[in-house]
Amino acid sequence: MLGHNSDYYDALVRDGEARIDWVDRYSPVLNGLVKHSLSDGSLRGKKIAVVVHLEAKTAFLALVLANAGAQVIVAGSNPRTTQASVVAALRERGITVTAEAGGTMASWEKELLAAADHNPEYVIDDGAELTMRIGMHRPELYAQLKGVSEETTTGTQRLYAMDEAGKLPFPALTANNARCKHLFDNRYGTGQTTVQAVLRLTNRQLAGAVFTVVGYGYVGRGIAEYAKRMGARVRVVETDPVRAVEAHMDGQKVGAATDLIPGSNFIVTATGGMRALGEPEFAVLDDDVVIANAGHHDLEIDVEALAAIALGQATSRPEITTFNLSGRDVHLLSHGALVNIAGGSGHPVEIMDLTFSVQGLGAHHLINTPLPPGVHVLPKAVDDSIAAAMLAAKGIHLDAPRPEQEDDFKDWINGMPSS
Ligand SMILES: NC(=O)c1ccc[n+]([C@@H]2O[C@H](COP(=O)([O-])OP(=O)(O)OC[C@H]3O[C@@H](n4cnc5c(N)ncnc54)[C@H](O)[C@@H]3O)[C@@H](O)[C@H]2O)c1
Repeated sequence: MLGHNSDYYDALVRDGEARIDWVDRYSPVLNGLVKHSLSDGSLRGKKIAVVVHLEAKTAFLALVLANAGAQVIVAGSNPRTTQASVVAALRERGITVTAEAGGTMASWEKELLAAADHNPEYVIDDGAELTMRIGMHRPELYAQLKGVSEETTTGTQRLYAMDEAGKLPFPALTANNARCKHLFDNRYGTGQTTVQAVLRLTNRQLAGAVFTVVGYGYVGRGIAEYAKRMGARVRVVETDPVRAVEAHMDGQKVGAATDLIPGSNFIVTATGGMRALGEPEFAVLDDDVVIANAGHHDLEIDVEALAAIALGQATSRPEITTFNLSGRDVHLLSHGALVNIAGGSGHPVEIMDLTFSVQGLGAHHLINTPLPPGVHVLPKAVDDSIAAAMLAAKGIHLDAPRPEQEDDFKDWINGMPSS
């Protein structure tokens, strides 16, 4: 273990500090609206666990909460996305961090339980990874858990499933379902950074290539859009007929996986489920195809099945594992973890300013508003205030609707006889 005075450690801290300062520079909503709301003292002494991909934007959120008086415990939501320099910088600022970079699934599980052992009253979670583990391994802690704010689509689905099963004894906010989150983070943030990570890791050309997106939700739509704008010929694999129609009307070629995978140069999964690419799909992959995942689960591409059927595997470049499937080479990026974070820098700072403003004001809402157990959404007024703050920071001003612009249906209804 390196001593805290070593040159290496100091350089690590400086790198982490610089990354966090960069986030500070481009976070007008967190620095304005959110800090102002949190300055009312209501977070003072509250124990909040932050379990989101542990890079600089998450560190900045943790520091905003800590500066508002909360006792913050930080862990990562995926073992492949924790950054050593950010961990070091947070610890240097006195924040408790239970995560280490470069961990395995087993060490990450322990880190999550170590975060749970700090007995948080509130959890800002991603994928409900800590919330579910507390339920499975520390169920007695649910008695003191006063609220959870959930970052993403997969975690939201898990919380709704827990609620339906009668196993959600506390209020949970789905930050993901706030408009200031999923409309921008899932779509523009993941869209830009997934395409960016795939190209940076592979150093391959996109213009003219066939780029297949599996899953056409907010994330899939964003990825397809960015790939298309950079000249790719985009195909979409969907299982939901309405979203397939949407993809069709957006001009994408739509169909079943085994029809569209042959001929694809790049395939990216964004379904939120597991094994969207499994053995039936591996059987029809072309030679030299690049496959990557942008969804929450590392198993959206069934990496274990891929390794089992491969004749061999090798590291072709950093973050690229090439599997040999009897004469066909298949290049898997970032071991199947979310490629834009594990193989890139994560979302743009401005996107996370919105997302983490939702989380910061979500935590404030949970702390200050008595809510019954169950899944809740952030009040529309709070969601709107985040968008308004971002527009104001950009110097953009909107008209307020004038009374004469309102639909006059209310006058019509008033004139109708009562039933
Ligand atoms: N990488 C990131 O930074 C990032 C950011 C936000 C969300 N996410 C994650 O991305 C995933 C997708 O999020 P979303 O908001 O787009 O979800 P969504 O529910 O809006 O969309 C998922 C789509 O995938 C389709 N689908 C499901 N299984 C399929 C299959 N086997 N084949 C083809 N299509 C299938 C669904 O019908 C749906 O239209 C989630 O796991 C979410 O948590 C990742």
